[in-house]
Amino acid sequence: MTAAKTSELSHLFRALKAPAAAGAAPKLAERARDEQWSYERYLEAVLSTEVGARESHGGEARIKAARFPARKTLEEFDFTFQRSVKRQVIEHLGQLDFLHGKENVVLLGPPGTGKTHLAIALGIRACLAGQRVQFATATEWVARLGEAKRTGELEDELARLARIPLVVVDEVGYIPFDPEAANLMFSLVSARYERASLIVTSNKAFSAWGEIFGDDVVAAAMIDRLVHHAEILALKGDSYRLQGRELGPPSFAGVGEKAQSIEQQLDQVQLLADEQEKLKPSERRQLGRILLEGIQRVISNQPQQQHVPHLAGALAKLNKAETDDRRMWVTELIVLERQQGDLGLKEQLLSAANSLAGPRGKARDELSDRLHELTKDGTAEERELALRLGQA
Ligand SMILES: Nc1ncnc2c1ncn2[C@@H]1O[C@H](COP(=O)(O)OP(=O)(O)OP(=O)(O)O)[C@@H](O)[C@H]1O
Ligand SMILES: [Mg+2]
Repeated sequence: MTAAKTSELSHLFRALKAPAAAGAAPKLAERARDEQWSYERYLEAVLSTEVGARESHGGEARIKAARFPARKTLEEFDFTFQRSVKRQVIEHLGQLDFLHGKENVVLLGPPGTGKTHLAIALGIRACLAGQRVQFATATEWVARLGEAKRTGELEDELARLARIPLVVVDEVGYIPFDPEAANLMFSLVSARYERASLIVTSNKAFSAWGEIFGDDVVAAAMIDRLVHHAEILALKGDSYRLQGRELGPPSFAGVGEKAQSIEQQLDQVQLLADEQEKLKPSERRQLGRILLEGIQRVISNQPQQQHVPHLAGALAKLNKAETDDRRMWVTELIVLERQQGDLGLKEQLLSAANSLAGPRGKARDELSDRLHELTKDGTAEERELALRLGQA
């Protein structure tokens, strides 16, 4: 592409507010010329880069709008610590059939057993799958609905909420309800019954709900609607919070927004990766997730792409993580790599995958396939990169 054409195009992309397409277009054009793509194939490649970037941004926007109190994922949930729920059951919920069936999920159990964690993680899955989510504690929901009632807008508010596919009500039972609060909670459950999904968490068994709501009849009617189409999970065991160290604060929730804290967070995660021997398996998993999320975040934000090598480098060190975790990370790194036009980024992502793939197994096979594909169909530089990594 001539320089004049390139700048003319980037002007047009700016006018269309399509930065991802703008970034990818020149490289794709080069590739298209090398490989003699049809006009349609080139246009498709450019547009799908933009659509991909927007869809993942949409996910982030929904996650933000959902107001989760923290960022938790299913992948970082340690099923060896929490043995009273089956991984398959949670993973099936993570496929979100319950949402499409307008069914509920009820998480019961003592403090620190992972109720809120699972509720958030399922909520985030829903956000990433394009669904709107609202998260709040039972107390917050009651306050919100109470306010709507006072201004005569309760019905409107409930109707509006019914259009949100997933509402999470956390912490039913920590604070007892007065009769008005109990009625408001009942109206929420009832308005959503068979229309849209709820996730409810509680530290109290259903048998104690009469006491929480100060009214056995209201409680029974609410439980009845809640559980009619629901997955009910009773978590047991000790609090995860109490089991020694917890890899708390290093979270990438803010990366991408708060530029000033990135360096600090980077230091922290790199340090942790250096000391992976001292981490528990679940902590390695959690750190891996944080690093991957970090990569996903900064990579979609041009000025922050400079951080990718550090994050990818730290991730590459986690070769002591469990096979399944490493396999998942390799898959995700390859997915990301495919979306990048920039050779440097491709190299960083594939190098990290290479360190994590291990000498043999599914992750290694998957990576080899990708490298093979690049040697076959890639540009000259991509071929060279793939060969170099293949030999390493
Ligand atoms: N099995 C687990 N694997 C990984 N992290 C866990 C697990 N269980 C709990 N945690 C973590 O421990 C902390 C407490 O868990 P969570 O907030 O989900 O507890 P909870 O059941 O909602 O407790 P509470 O009733 O006090 O609200 C969180 O940081 C959560 O991410
Ligand atoms: Mg909780």
